[in-house]
Amino acid sequence: MPSAPTTSLDLTAAEVIADPYPFFADERARHPVAWHEASGGYLVFDHAGVSAVQRDRRLGRLWTDREPARRLEPFNLLHRNQMMENEPPEHTRLRRPVAAAFARGHIERLRPRVRELAGSLLADTDPAGFDVIAEYAEPLPVLVIAELVGVPASFAPELRAWSQAIVRMYEASPPAAVVEAAVGAASDFAALVRDLAEVRRKAPAEDLISDLVATELGDDEVVAAVVLLLNAGHEASVNVFGNGLVAMLQRGLSPAAEVALTVEEMLRFDSALQLFERTATEPVTIGDVEVEPGQKVSVLLGSANRDPAVFAQPDEFRVDRATNPHLAFGVGVHFCLGAPLARMELVESVQALFTTYPDLALAGEPESRGTFVLRGYHRVAVRSAHA
Ligand code: HEM
Repeated sequence: MPSAPTTSLDLTAAEVIADPYPFFADERARHPVAWHEASGGYLVFDHAGVSAVQRDRRLGRLWTDREPARRLEPFNLLHRNQMMENEPPEHTRLRRPVAAAFARGHIERLRPRVRELAGSLLADTDPAGFDVIAEYAEPLPVLVIAELVGVPASFAPELRAWSQAIVRMYEASPPAAVVEAAVGAASDFAALVRDLAEVRRKAPAEDLISDLVATELGDDEVVAAVVLLLNAGHEASVNVFGNGLVAMLQRGLSPAAEVALTVEEMLRFDSALQLFERTATEPVTIGDVEVEPGQKVSVLLGSANRDPAVFAQPDEFRVDRATNPHLAFGVGVHFCLGAPLARMELVESVQALFTTYPDLALAGEPESRGTFVLRGYHRVAVRSAHA
């Protein structure tokens, strides 16, 4: 039995999912790192600990195929072959060509296109009342990443549905129906990307799939990389936008003149991605706790982002917070590859929304997705008096 502090925090409890931050504050004050029997590993609550774990090469993301492995092969294939589930040197081999192709996509070049998409989505909204998630926050990053990668915009609804089905597997103990849906989605998603890769191999276009098929990556690795980009490329952005917007509207706030500062605060204040797991490959000390090889350690990004040791008045949403070393994009070798794109999209979409609707207000209670790891709203009704 480990002689570390223990926590019985229930990450599936309705009140924790509704508002985990008071629970995090209480845990963090008592123990920055604690053994959590329910997940069979340690939870890390403080900024210093989360940052140290993510930087420590002795704590890795080690993929093991989900069981029954044959049945889950479509899901396993997409994960086994992608950078996020591997550590160096495999990670380096898988990340380098994608990072190079991504850099060639010139994020800044996309800015006018993002502005244009934001404008046209807003033009279709009814100021008397609309769901800002379904009509704005969701379609924007999906269209942007689809275009960048090279998937026709007509597939946007499928991309969103497949991605949603796959990410539900990241919550604790997914039920059989969720597993079935994820396997189906992984298989359909991979089939589409394989077809597109085949077409681009013969006739390259100005997109990421064309760049990737021309690299040293194998077929399954190209498919896994493209699916990762399409999923990671919108899932968190939707929720950062939704969570940040709700936090602002609930407090009657609007963005600072320097919108980029407000976007950083949105990223910090209510993290869209709450938990990432690592496994120790060697003995390692985190805070006062000795972790043995094979033991799991989960970092809680949302808790780190409210640590009073790092952020003044951490529970206050400050639209112009100047010093903001949040960990919403992670840190270390797995630092988010899409951070520059996500930041640009968020700045443009927040700016466009408040320019169009300066008096934007909530029109009813936002509806939570009800999940802990991927934190967000699936419906946020808003309204404005501006026509
Ligand atoms: C605001 C939106 C986003 C947030 C909060 C976010 C957050 C994160 C975090 C926390 C990680 C690290 C995971 C870990 O440490 O295990 C990560 C990794 C990653 N993200 Fe993002 N992300 C966002 C948007 C994007 C976008 C737009 C893309 C792509 C277009 C993207 C692509 C990736 C990739 C490929 C990785 C894996 C990097 C690696 O393992 O080396 N993300 N993201």
